[in-house]
Amino acid sequence: MLSVPPVARHRREFNEYLRSLIRDQQPWLLSRMIRYHLGWEDAEGRPEDVGGKGLRPTLCLLACEAAGADWRQALPAAAAIELVHNFSLIHDDIQDRDTERHHRSTVWSIWGEAQAINAGDALLALARPILLRLADEGVPAATVIEAARVLDGSTLEMVAGQTQDIAFEGKSDVDVPAYLQMVRQKTGALFDCALRLGVLAAIGDTELAERMGRIGRTFGTAFQIRDDLLGVWGDESKTGKATGVDIHRRKKSLPVVYALNEANQATIEQFRKIYEKPTLDGDDLSWVRRSLDEIDARAYCERQASELKESAVAELARLELQPEPREELIRTAEFLLERES
Ligand code: IPE
Ligand code: IPE
Ligand code: MG
Ligand code: MG
Repeated sequence: MLSVPPVARHRREFNEYLRSLIRDQQPWLLSRMIRYHLGWEDAEGRPEDVGGKGLRPTLCLLACEAAGADWRQALPAAAAIELVHNFSLIHDDIQDRDTERHHRSTVWSIWGEAQAINAGDALLALARPILLRLADEGVPAATVIEAARVLDGSTLEMVAGQTQDIAFEGKSDVDVPAYLQMVRQKTGALFDCALRLGVLAAIGDTELAERMGRIGRTFGTAFQIRDDLLGVWGDESKTGKATGVDIHRRKKSLPVVYALNEANQATIEQFRKIYEKPTLDGDDLSWVRRSLDEIDARAYCERQASELKESAVAELARLELQPEPREELIRTAEFLLERES
């Protein structure tokens, strides 16, 4: 069972909206892969309802309300971001060689890498015309163009972050600032985009949109730190993916970056030696796990995520926003740090 975000009141209508926009693609295999990945069908095409957490759309719709408009006005933006996010997940699973997501086989592990790339590409291409539907909701043309610029810019940043994430696999000298820069891009960029587009769809105020976007980026960074922590200490029956694969892939997740920089000298040296190997064996894996526990890397990650969340919430309090959706944004931010999946 996936952790359920605390604010679910948009969920049913959002899901219906998204489904109404994704028409059958030819050939049928493309539809099959898309509908499978989105959790609407199993791999044989039988109906299922096991989608993701829908955090980015929720944040986008809440930002729209916080800025003073009806959340339905931002539905095209929320749908477009969710599609870009899912494009990134399909490609990410190929890049990370992950065979499991949400307790299910990943698209590439069923249909192969080549076809999974097509499924991801299709989701990305679907996103743009859906975003342009903001015009049908009465959003002025100039704001729709600005929203398209933001979505494309954020997508490019996400890809830049992914490039760094993969490049870091082969490096053992990644420090905390380099880690944060990578994460602010690979995950922060789409959270930034979610809040920014919510405000743009609501009132077109680029200054408020930018300030909300910065808050979103910080939320996204805290969210990724929690993801890194679950990658080491998570319960597989809750996360729905194998624990320890990040270590195996030599990912520079925050617990490891902490160890590589902040542990005692002997531990740092041993970490570097292991992380300079082309592949880690079972003994390396156990040693890394044990050492991360010994230096209490988990508590460090929890502190970092919590500080980020607190700073973003303090900034939220400074903005002129509708009180109820602001409260719901804060509750959602708290969930980002507590989630088990
Ligand atoms: C997974 O994001 C990718 C990361 C940025 C860690 P989510 O955990 O939000 O994925 P879904 O939407 O629930 O599938
Ligand atoms: C998340 O990457 C970032 C993107 C998909 C852009 P991760 O590789 O850390 O996320 P999970 O753990 O596979 O969801
Ligand atoms: Mg991954
Ligand atoms: Mg990845």
